[in-house]
Amino acid sequence: MKKEMILKGDLCYSTTKDHMEFRKDAYLICRDGIITGVYDELPKQYKTFEILDFSGHLIVPGMTDLHVHAPQYAFRGMGMDMELLDWLNTHTFPEEAKYKDPAYASNAYELFTEDLKTSATTRACIFGTIHVPATLKLMELLNDAGICSYVGKVNMDRNSPDYLIEEGAFSSAEATSEWILAASGKFPHVKPILTPRFIPTCSDELMEKLRELQKLYDLPVQSHLSENQGEIDWVKELCPDARFYGDAYDRHGLFGKDVPTIMAHCVYSSAEEILRMKENGVYIAHCPQSNTNLSSGIAPVRTYLEHEMNIGLGTDVAGGPGLSMFKAIADAIQVSKLYWRLVDDSKKPLCMEEGFYLATKGGGSFFGNVGSFEDGYEADILVLDESRMRHPQNLTVKERLERFLYLADDRCVLHKFIEGRQIF
Ligand code: GUN
Ligand code: FE
Repeated sequence: MKKEMILKGDLCYSTTKDHMEFRKDAYLICRDGIITGVYDELPKQYKTFEILDFSGHLIVPGMTDLHVHAPQYAFRGMGMDMELLDWLNTHTFPEEAKYKDPAYASNAYELFTEDLKTSATTRACIFGTIHVPATLKLMELLNDAGICSYVGKVNMDRNSPDYLIEEGAFSSAEATSEWILAASGKFPHVKPILTPRFIPTCSDELMEKLRELQKLYDLPVQSHLSENQGEIDWVKELCPDARFYGDAYDRHGLFGKDVPTIMAHCVYSSAEEILRMKENGVYIAHCPQSNTNLSSGIAPVRTYLEHEMNIGLGTDVAGGPGLSMFKAIADAIQVSKLYWRLVDDSKKPLCMEEGFYLATKGGGSFFGNVGSFEDGYEADILVLDESRMRHPQNLTVKERLERFLYLADDRCVLHKFIEGRQIF
């Protein structure tokens, strides 16, 4: 039997990257977890149906976090005074090593998943660690929470500390196969994604083996790209034959084309790298908070939008301190203003509609028809709570949404639906 769901409230959603619909007191109709229409008046055939009446509340599509490290949630908000490579060695690798212990991993991942569940995020692309049991546990917890996500067991077989390294390409690929097979068919909401950490920690031999696994199991890929100048110089030394950083992935067939791929950061991508990403349909995960905290720089998001590239937002916890996608939107807009003012005055700042698009429809498209209320989109829905943001004057729906993005934290999500399932 077909199952209908009808919500009433003040709907806000993107249609294109710079246009949004704002519909006060409108009806959102879903059938079997898919949006089938938005109406100002309830059509006759639905008159007898039960309505989830959220009149007076903003209702928006769920948000996609395109890049987040689950094991790093434990040290969020700490160690923010270093650049990438020192930060990895000092804070990140020692913490990630702890996930060898299943009890530690289970406890830490429960905290992460509980907070992700109550956040605005309905879809996420998540890094685990190199450890198979811990990564399977993370997938189980996310699946139980009903969060649609891709999770990656991280690969690292070189330039890593003794306490967080896999013993060569063969052993890393073996562990990866074991993980893929163990996860296979087990988690309806959570899928595996190949996750070479970044070029410095993955040998050519390992990348070749990952390409074989990619073909065998038809998996997507996520990694890091052109985040920090020291990192980029290091990749040049390690891969003298690669034309640019992204080419070092592309040579192994792990950079878009027939392989859905997300590359986090892209702060310093050259014209050649940008062109290859565009040709190959690579997704960019823009992580403004992380790029600020690790003093990485400001990604040229206006350029990526002008080129009609695939792009969304990531929190990059613990580069970014928290899971709030509202904050990610506000930060993306704010850093784009600094880029315009300080770097290139031909690249005008993002407007609210563009920031909102990145967090919803832009990143959501990695998952298919996700991140809008247009017909055929999956029913990922947030009902928002503005009660803590008191104001004396009348505001339009658009004004309410804008201030919500700047003022809200994740406690301001009242209800969350993913694929039509009510999470809370
Ligand atoms: N590059 C390689 N590993 C990482 C990581 O954990 N975080 C960030 N921001 N960049 C990386
Ligand atoms: Fe990252």
